[in-house]
Amino acid sequence: MTIYVLGLPLSLADRFHPDYWILAMNFIRNAWYAACQSQQVRSGEMFHRVLLEEPVVFYRKQDGSLVALRDRCPHRFVPLHLGKLQGDEIECGYHGLRFDCTGSCVSNPHGDNKTQESARVQSYSAHDRYGLVWIWMGDAPADSTRIPHYGLHDADSNYQVVSGYLHVGANYLLMADNLLDLSHLMYLHDGLLGDRDQAGAKQVVQEDEQGRLVCRRWMPNSKVPAVFDLLYRRDQKLVDMWTEIRWMAPSYFWFDGGVHEPQRGEREDHGWWYGQHLLTPETKSTTHYHFAAALPPGTQLDENDKATFAEMRRFAFAEQDKVMLEAQQAALGDSDFWAMKPALFSVDAAPVRMRRAVERLVNAEIAEGGVQP
Ligand code: FES
Ligand SMILES: [Fe+2]
Repeated sequence: MTIYVLGLPLSLADRFHPDYWILAMNFIRNAWYAACQSQQVRSGEMFHRVLLEEPVVFYRKQDGSLVALRDRCPHRFVPLHLGKLQGDEIECGYHGLRFDCTGSCVSNPHGDNKTQESARVQSYSAHDRYGLVWIWMGDAPADSTRIPHYGLHDADSNYQVVSGYLHVGANYLLMADNLLDLSHLMYLHDGLLGDRDQAGAKQVVQEDEQGRLVCRRWMPNSKVPAVFDLLYRRDQKLVDMWTEIRWMAPSYFWFDGGVHEPQRGEREDHGWWYGQHLLTPETKSTTHYHFAAALPPGTQLDENDKATFAEMRRFAFAEQDKVMLEAQQAALGDSDFWAMKPALFSVDAAPVRMRRAVERLVNAEIAEGGVQP
């Protein structure tokens, strides 16, 4: 197994170099991550973004298929996106070496015109799905069947999907804590997504045999928060409300939440939605956040209502969660989360299990490489 760091093959000894661990620690690598929106990678152009602390450049071959390469020339390390796309190849903007879609150096315009096997750029598997580009940055073979299934986005789905993106200046695990502990709806999003009177809600956390976590809350006879009121009856009468959030490694979340008539016992054809939340680490302290809500076919929203729904969610994520998470990251700085000895309460049950699961998966990947941290 060959590992490349900064475009160079990494020996076993190299892996003990602290820089390697700065690059490689803490992220699950053998997994698909949402890299960007498919429409951001346009024909004839390059799109670049840092993912898992590695610069990556994307482009489309002339047949429309995706290419993802490390965005760093192995000659003098300039970003390849500063060069030119020449057909299906990138020509480095500095001295003109050319690389094909596998990262091989296929042309050297200078001197003896020789190319070298070592002048190779790391390539990654990438796929379009659900309007997003998915990337695999691990050593294990990329298996496209492991891209999480979000069939609500399929063209023949009757669900109305509203999606968005945020760049958040916080570690992705702080964001995962936030999504797995929905007790914050009652305070941070009081009146909008939750109500402080729901704080006594019973919480159930379960883990299945594949290590997926689900955290459920049931809040009978609640005041109806504004987003749910918009989708339900707009009469502000009491409702029964539920939230359920599922986590799957590395950082996929599935939300199911809504309201119905008190004591009805089952959901109605509106008043709820499924949410998709995808966290992709950019660096240790910044995250690409893709999110979407899928409204069921019974939801009656005109275009204004739909815009209000999207704006309420944007406000919650951008003006409330993001502000709190970035302040939290600033307070933590470079400190290790556990070394800070966080106080733990019952609401932390799911986040703590998630963090332990991530640690196990990261350590398993390291062990598979025959290296101990
Ligand atoms: S830095 Fe890319 S060809 Fe020299
Ligand atoms: Fe939130």
